[in-house]
Amino acid sequence: MTGRDGKGSLAIMMRGRFITLEGGEGAGKSTQRAAIASALRQVGLKVLETREPGGSPGAEEIRELIVRGDPGRWDRETEALLVFAARRDHLQRLILPALEQGQWVVCDRFSDSTFAYQGYGRGVEVESLRELHRFCAGDLLPDLTFLLDLPVEAGLARAAHRGGAERFEALGLDFHERVRKGFLLLAAQEPERFVLINASLPPEEVTQAVLKQLEQRLGLTL
Ligand SMILES: Nc1ncnc2c1ncn2[C@@H]1O[C@H](COP(=O)(O)OP(=O)(O)OP(=O)(O)O)[C@@H](O)[C@H]1O
Ligand SMILES: [Mg+2]
Repeated sequence: MTGRDGKGSLAIMMRGRFITLEGGEGAGKSTQRAAIASALRQVGLKVLETREPGGSPGAEEIRELIVRGDPGRWDRETEALLVFAARRDHLQRLILPALEQGQWVVCDRFSDSTFAYQGYGRGVEVESLRELHRFCAGDLLPDLTFLLDLPVEAGLARAAHRGGAERFEALGLDFHERVRKGFLLLAAQEPERFVLINASLPPEEVTQAVLKQLEQRLGLTL
C-alpha cells in the first residue's frame, strides 16, 4: 500500500502489503492468488485472500447486480459506478482494516480491471474512472500488481472448461482483445507497480515466475 499517512512509524512498519492479480478471463488469477497466499503463510505472514467485485458482504450484494441478469441492463457508466460502490465497501470494511492489522491482502482483481473492462473494453473515459478511483480509494494503490497475460482465445477456452463462460463470450472477441491491450498499456505506464507474467505457461511455471518476482520486488525470501 502506498501513499497513505500512518499514525506513527510503528504503524507504518506493521502495515501489511496489498497485492493484486489482474488479467482476462481464465488467465489463472484465482489459481495464482491461492499460490501466493500459501507461500506467504508458509513464512508466517497473516494473509487475507479476497476478490472483486465483491469481497465484503455489501460488495457481494452489489456484485450480484453486476454479474447476474441481462448483461446489457446497465449502461457502461452505471456499471462503472456499481463496481466502484462495491470497491468502496470492500476497502472500508475489509481491505483497509486488514492492512492496518498487519495482514497481507491478496486480491483477485481491483481498479485496474475497471480501467481495462469498463474503460478500454466498454469505452468509458479512463480518466473519469481514475477520478472515481480517487473518490473511493484516495491515493491508495496496490504495492504490487501481477498482470497474467495470455491470448484471449486461450483464456476463454480455460474459462469454458471451468463453466460459466457464455456471458463473456457474448461480449465478443474484439471486446476481450481491447481489454487485453488495455491491461498491457496500464502495465507499461506503471512498471514499478506491475509485473507482467506470461500466463500461457503451465501453472507451476507461472507460480515460479510469480513467487520469484514477489521475492525480488518486496524483499522476501519464500
Ligand atoms: N497456467 C495454466 N495452464 C493451464 N490451465 C490453467 C492455468 N492456470 C489455471 N488454469 C486452469 O484454467 C481455469 C481458469 O483458471 P483460474 O480460475 O485460476 O483463472 P481466473 O483468471 O481466476 O479466471 P476468471 O477470470 O474466470 O475468474 C481453471 O480450470 C484452472 O485450473
Ligand atoms: Mg477467478
